[in-house]
Amino acid sequence: MSSKQQPTTTASEAPGALPATTGSAEDAVEDASAEQAVNPGDEADEADSSYDDDAANSTASLSESILNYRKIHGRTYHSNVGDAEYWGANDEGQNESLDIIHHVLTLQLDGELHKVPLKDGIHRVLDVGTGTGLWAIDFGDKHPSAEVIGIDVSPIQPAWVPPNVRFEIDDVTQPWTFPPSTFDFIHIRWLFGSIKDWDALFAEAFSALKPGGWIESHEASAQFHSDDDSVNENTAMGQFGKFFIEGGLKMGRSMTVVEDGVQREGIEKAGFVNVEEWDYKSPFGAWPEDEKSREIGMFQQLATSRDVAGSMLYMGTLLGWRPEEVQVYAAKLRREFRSKDMRGYYMQKIVWGQKPE
Ligand SMILES: C[S@@+](CC[C@H](N)C(=O)[O-])C[C@H]1O[C@@H](n2cnc3c(N)ncnc32)[C@H](O)[C@@H]1O
Repeated sequence: MSSKQQPTTTASEAPGALPATTGSAEDAVEDASAEQAVNPGDEADEADSSYDDDAANSTASLSESILNYRKIHGRTYHSNVGDAEYWGANDEGQNESLDIIHHVLTLQLDGELHKVPLKDGIHRVLDVGTGTGLWAIDFGDKHPSAEVIGIDVSPIQPAWVPPNVRFEIDDVTQPWTFPPSTFDFIHIRWLFGSIKDWDALFAEAFSALKPGGWIESHEASAQFHSDDDSVNENTAMGQFGKFFIEGGLKMGRSMTVVEDGVQREGIEKAGFVNVEEWDYKSPFGAWPEDEKSREIGMFQQLATSRDVAGSMLYMGTLLGWRPEEVQVYAAKLRREFRSKDMRGYYMQKIVWGQKPE
């Protein structure tokens, strides 16, 4: 469904949810001390007070302001960096989910880290929106002679990394400061809902790549589907996409990157050639019969269900949901995620192309 066609979703429209309220993320920031914390998997109701200390120790070189996280309903979010606005929390619960997702996406590529047909002699690689940095670290391990840079707005990467890997904190939607023709490979994964102007991002990547260098853009849809109607409008999973699409619209950062073909259009417009695309269904849950799909489905379920609130609270607040309403909906989602009767999947799309020689 195109983002323009999405109806407004509120808490009252989610299956069996509570009435919607009004509010903004800003209100929530101000009210943070008065609100209950909403934590990973709802297993613990205590905020992880050790997080800031750990982060401060491992990123001692970072300026104070980068560690000045915003707090919403007991969860932390990136500090103000450029014009960035990312919907996920940046605390332990979400970071563990990102680590599991990296494992899933690697399994999906049969252990490979990319679709781009890289040759030997890769010297400089950039991972845009690197998250917890596992892709950059794995790539650095596989290519010890390449220098790998990962960029993110949150300093959530480990301190101990291969000597050829480093991380920078920056907003990738601002004009890039890398000299032109610097990189052999630029990797961009799972930035749906984070980017206002994809064409501008791909144009920056085109300029920063050496002639003959490659770009790879790997994005996911936020909407669950099923081939047997087990996921439908009346299920929490069926409503999940609407929630995120509405939230993305509020933020001015589309969640329908895959559905709208944004990657291929932007990559071709930027001037890349030899553009190819791979679309695939990502199973969710333990329902698939073949072993590989079941393993992928179970890891996805684990990654998402252990911290539904960390993915939903920011947008929920923008959409006028109270934290309790997010909790109720999250509990329904987790129940459906665990059910073998819900045979859900979502679409992913990888597009890659080469800067002309
Ligand atoms: C869903 S995570 C994906 C992480 C990683 N690319 C992966 O695939 O494992 C999205 C990441 O993009 C980062 N991000 C969002 N907007 C950004 C921006 N404007 N500049 C830099 N990083 C950004 C977030 O902080 C988050 O770590």
